[in-house]
Amino acid sequence: MKRRLCNRFCCTLSLTKIFLSTFLTFPAVAQTEFKYIDDQNGDSATGEVPVFGPDSGWTQGSTCTGCAFHPDVEQAFQGTWQDTTHHTTDVDPRTVQFNFTGVCTSLDVYCIIPNDADLSITSTYNLTFSLDGQPLQQTFTHSSDRSNEYIYNVSVLSLTGLVQVPHTFTMEASSPTVNSTLLFDYARYIVNLAPVSSSSASAFESSTTIAESPSSTATAAPALNAPHTPPLIIIGSVLGPILLVLISSVLIFAYRRRRFIMTPLPTFQRPGVIQDPPPPYSAF
Ligand SMILES: *[C@@H]1O[C@H](CO)[C@@H](O)[C@H](O)[C@H]1NC(C)=O
Ligand SMILES: *[C@@H]1O[C@H](CO)[C@@H](O)[C@H](O)[C@H]1NC(C)=O
Ligand SMILES: *[C@@H]1O[C@H](CO)[C@@H](O)[C@H](O)[C@H]1NC(C)=O
Ligand SMILES: *[C@@H]1O[C@H](CO)[C@@H](O)[C@H](O)[C@H]1NC(C)=O
Repeated sequence: MKRRLCNRFCCTLSLTKIFLSTFLTFPAVAQTEFKYIDDQNGDSATGEVPVFGPDSGWTQGSTCTGCAFHPDVEQAFQGTWQDTTHHTTDVDPRTVQFNFTGVCTSLDVYCIIPNDADLSITSTYNLTFSLDGQPLQQTFTHSSDRSNEYIYNVSVLSLTGLVQVPHTFTMEASSPTVNSTLLFDYARYIVNLAPVSSSSASAFESSTTIAESPSSTATAAPALNAPHTPPLIIIGSVLGPILLVLISSVLIFAYRRRRFIMTPLPTFQRPGVIQDPPPPYSAF
């Protein structure tokens, strides 16, 4: 329980930092980053390419002449996507599978959504997902609005708070009742560059270590040599962003946890049960 809570706090910390760093620069605590898994070029961290099953059921959409859909290559992540359609009569499910490992991981999976005006061309989506062999409750469905417009960067699945182990993710189009298309573009997950262990003490430790990295020394050094900069301002400018991230994280974490606990309990459930979030993932 303690450890799980701590994992959740670390994740909140990472996400808060990523969020805030879109407005501010944090030379002192640059330790998490996004990794991308492209359909064609694979994982930017490991080079591992997703596996598409069955092989004969998929086509590289960006170079496909026989495909019904021709999204703009410029709008697609790294200019590529994988195209398939599963018809209700197809025996084999259409699957996308990949492995990923991150610390305090979150995962988002992005597809391109067609909206063909001709409904005899399957624009419908009907996807199911599993993580580490366990089916997820989330599904993704979409019906054509007949606009003939493609929507890019659509997150068909978003998971957060995953435990810190290697994961295998599978996405599947296999409905026996509706035809489903699937244009897989890419996935994104978070890694922690200075791995945070399970105790919050080491979360502090790693921020401090990063603060001594060459890039922040480089920015701090000229300030130290400048004649009239009072030392307090230097300390403040280094510690300020760290404190801002920490305080924001604590507040967000406390708020989310409070909301979680305050969710009305079904009468048959013991409070102790619901405070223990179900591993190994939770919906955002
Ligand atoms: C989709 O997101 C990717 C990565 O963030 C970006 O490179 C691309 O420009 C985006 N495309 C659209 C149409 O928003
Ligand atoms: C994921 O990792 C497992 C274990 O290393 C390996 O057997 C499997 O082929 C990998 N799957 C993919 C889609 O790369
Ligand atoms: C998706 O497929 C499932 C399984 O066949 C089906 O029960 C569900 O109604 C479908 N959803 C939509 C929106 O078509
Ligand atoms: C699925 O696609 C097939 C082939 O295009 C079509 O004959 C069938 O009517 C479609 N099924 C549904 C439920 O739309």
